[in-house]
Amino acid sequence: MPRTTTPRELPTAGSRDLLGGALAFRRDQLGFLADNVNRHGDLFRFRPLGLPMVLANHPDHIQHILVDGEQRYDKNATIFKVVRPVLRDGLIAIADKERWGRQRRMMAPLFTPRTVAGFTENMTDETVRMLDRWDRRSAADALLDITDEVGQLALRIVNRSLFSADVSAAAQSFERAFATANDVLGSFFRFPFPPLSWPTLRRRRLHRAIDDMDRFVSGVIRQRTEGSDPSQSQSPDLLSLLMHSTDDDGSVMEPEQLHHEVLNLCIGAFETTTNTLSWAFYLLARHPHIEERLHEEVDRVLAGRVPRFDDLPRLTYTRMIIDETLRIYSPAYQTMRHVCEEDIVGGYRIPAGSNILINSYLLHRHPEFWPDPETFDPENFTPERVAARPKHAYIPFGSGRRVCIGKHFALAELTLALATVARGHRLLLPPGAPLVAPEPLITLHPRGGIHLRLACR
Ligand code: HEM
Repeated sequence: MPRTTTPRELPTAGSRDLLGGALAFRRDQLGFLADNVNRHGDLFRFRPLGLPMVLANHPDHIQHILVDGEQRYDKNATIFKVVRPVLRDGLIAIADKERWGRQRRMMAPLFTPRTVAGFTENMTDETVRMLDRWDRRSAADALLDITDEVGQLALRIVNRSLFSADVSAAAQSFERAFATANDVLGSFFRFPFPPLSWPTLRRRRLHRAIDDMDRFVSGVIRQRTEGSDPSQSQSPDLLSLLMHSTDDDGSVMEPEQLHHEVLNLCIGAFETTTNTLSWAFYLLARHPHIEERLHEEVDRVLAGRVPRFDDLPRLTYTRMIIDETLRIYSPAYQTMRHVCEEDIVGGYRIPAGSNILINSYLLHRHPEFWPDPETFDPENFTPERVAARPKHAYIPFGSGRRVCIGKHFALAELTLALATVARGHRLLLPPGAPLVAPEPLITLHPRGGIHLRLACR
């Protein structure tokens, strides 16, 4: 169709700030973006320290950028350059589309709903083991560091399922290293000065954290490769699949690439599921009437037994709680795309070379699609309300070709773990507990962690 109107130029935010909005972005990243959405609408540009950024905050824009027009965009965007020292060329940050396609095709068979069904026993089994540990400790130490506990659970589940590895002894060192990297890179993303190549304390902390995460991954691979041939295993896992799959030219994956993929899967699975489950317990502790409905469903469907994969379709309210938690505190709350080719989005010209910022914390509060955005309300996810909203008003797992590979894995794990705990336990706010605020690092982290008191139902 011939184009009838000339595309408009984007409104500019932060233009009165000499650093292009960088100081306000550093002070309060989410506040800066929310203020400017109010002022300029769902699409505007800003140039913190000269970096060309565009915020896109409407479901139609997001559908265009991630799905319909995705060939004009890639992951050569600033945020992926920031995280690349950690993630390197693993699946999450890799920008080369051809190499990404090869890696993704290789791993996809391990992430279908059918394969995930085979992992669900690991998920409930590890959750029951966590509850046993809690029960043994609760008399002496009733206040639980939920973020830490759930973090170890998430690491155990993903490593047992994908790599047949027991990481119980090393989980805490991985957690600590990831927290450091998230903190250093999160603050660097908010204000990228001084450069990470300068010999600063920040750089030393980051490199120590990367070394620790690398050591963790080497341990996982070693457990699987020493003593037994993974290809001869009764139940070939992702590690054996990656080690033995061949490229079009017959070559197998380089050990270094294998290491990066294992690291990407541990990182992709760890912080996101940890934060979601921790926030879910926190939100339930603050909303006892919703917790009561959860208990009613879990008692009715499970009658006290441990859930199985085929219970998932009947744990509908449990799943709605997870969906709503992912709306309010979307853990992977920001992503970015680099504009390879000039584009027109929503009638505005988007110059090549820009970085498009997509922030699901803001999108999931868009007043046009979420009438009471700050209220925790699982009813937002009844089938009627879901059908009435545009698909891209809710993107906790991203969308398009680069959608989260672990989406089915995560949703099964989160729903089953929540139901397993809710059968016999409650997590309560300690008296006088302060509100926990979300901290926008590379992921959205609960500031100071979440601490709750264990009680039996
Ligand atoms: C609540 C849990 C999770 C959330 C909210 C989440 C969120 C996301 C999002 C938003 C993306 C897309 C990022 C982008 O477009 O730039 C993504 C990608 C990815 N996620 Fe997840 N994720 C979760 C769990 C998992 C799990 C359990 C795994 C692995 C077992 C995983 C592995 C990955 C990988 C490897 C990618 C990159 C996919 C690609 O580019 O092909 N994630 N995740």
